[in-house]
Amino acid sequence: MIAILGAGSLGRLWAAKLPAGQVAFVPRPEQSAAPLRYRFRPINGPELSVQIPWLTNTESPSLLIVTTKAGDTLAALQPLMPRLPETTPVVLFQNGLGSQQRVAQIWPSHPILAATTTEGANRPETELTVHAGQGETWVGALTPAGEARLRKTVSTLAESGLSVNATPDIFDRLWQKLVINAGINPFTAILNCPNGEILAHPFYQQWIDPLCREISKLLTASGQSPRSATALREAIETVACKTATNTSSMRADRLAGRKTEIDFINGYLARLGAELGIDTAVNRMLTDQVEQLN
Ligand code: PAF
Repeated sequence: MIAILGAGSLGRLWAAKLPAGQVAFVPRPEQSAAPLRYRFRPINGPELSVQIPWLTNTESPSLLIVTTKAGDTLAALQPLMPRLPETTPVVLFQNGLGSQQRVAQIWPSHPILAATTTEGANRPETELTVHAGQGETWVGALTPAGEARLRKTVSTLAESGLSVNATPDIFDRLWQKLVINAGINPFTAILNCPNGEILAHPFYQQWIDPLCREISKLLTASGQSPRSATALREAIETVACKTATNTSSMRADRLAGRKTEIDFINGYLARLGAELGIDTAVNRMLTDQVEQLN
C-alpha cells in the first residue's frame, strides 16, 4: 500500500494516477471512515470518479508520499513516523527548502528522499482535481538509506504513468525551483497580481536585481552550481512570462487566508545568509512584507 500524507491538489493527482487499489490517504485526527471521493480530470480523456480509502492503523505502507505544505510537514509526520517501518521510503514534495533537511535530521536512519515536480494540478472546485499540465518529477536521496531505495522508489512512482526520474543531486533541482519561487511568489503576493504582471511593476523592477545578486552569492557560498545574477533574473522572467496568467501558490494562499510558504522560500534564503555571513536584506524585506499580509 502506498500512503499519501496531504490530500491537496498534488496528493490527489498522485492518488488518481497511481494504480487503483494501491493507494490510501493518511487520515487526519478525527477523520471519518468514509473514503475520499473526488472527480479527476486528466490532461486527455474523460473525467474519472476517484475513491481513495484512508490508511488504517494496521496497514503498513511500502512507500509514503508527503504532499503537505512545507510548514505543516513536521507536525504531520511526527505521529506517523513511529509506526512506519524503518525500511519504508518517505518522499517529500515540499516547496522551498528547510523542511526537507529538518525531516532528514530528525529521522536519519529512515530512507528519506526529496522530490520536485513541474506537474500542474489544481482544484477549481473542492470535489474536482484537474491535471492541468504535464511535467517532470525528480527524486533524490537525503539520507544513506534513501540512496539505497532511490531506484525502487522511482519505479514505484513511475507506475503512475507520470515522468519520474532519479537524480544524484536533488538539492540542485530544489535550488532551481527555489530561485524561481523566490523571484516570483513574494512579488505576486505583495502586489496581488498574476505572475506576468509583476514584470512591469516598479516594486519588482526596483528589487529584482539586488535580490538576484543576493541569491547568486548564496548559491556560490553554499556550494551549489554558481549562477550570475543576470542568469537568475533571466530564468525568473522566462517562467513569469510562460505562466503570465497564473496565480502563484503564494498569492493563492494569501487570497485564501492561509499561511504562505515564505518561511521556506525567501525566509530560508535570509536565514542561510545569516549563517554564511552574506547580507540578504532584500530576502528579509520580502519575507517581512509577505508575513505582514497574513
Ligand atoms: O509557486 C508557484 O505558483 C509556481 O512554482 C510558479 C512557478 C511561481 C508559477 O506559478
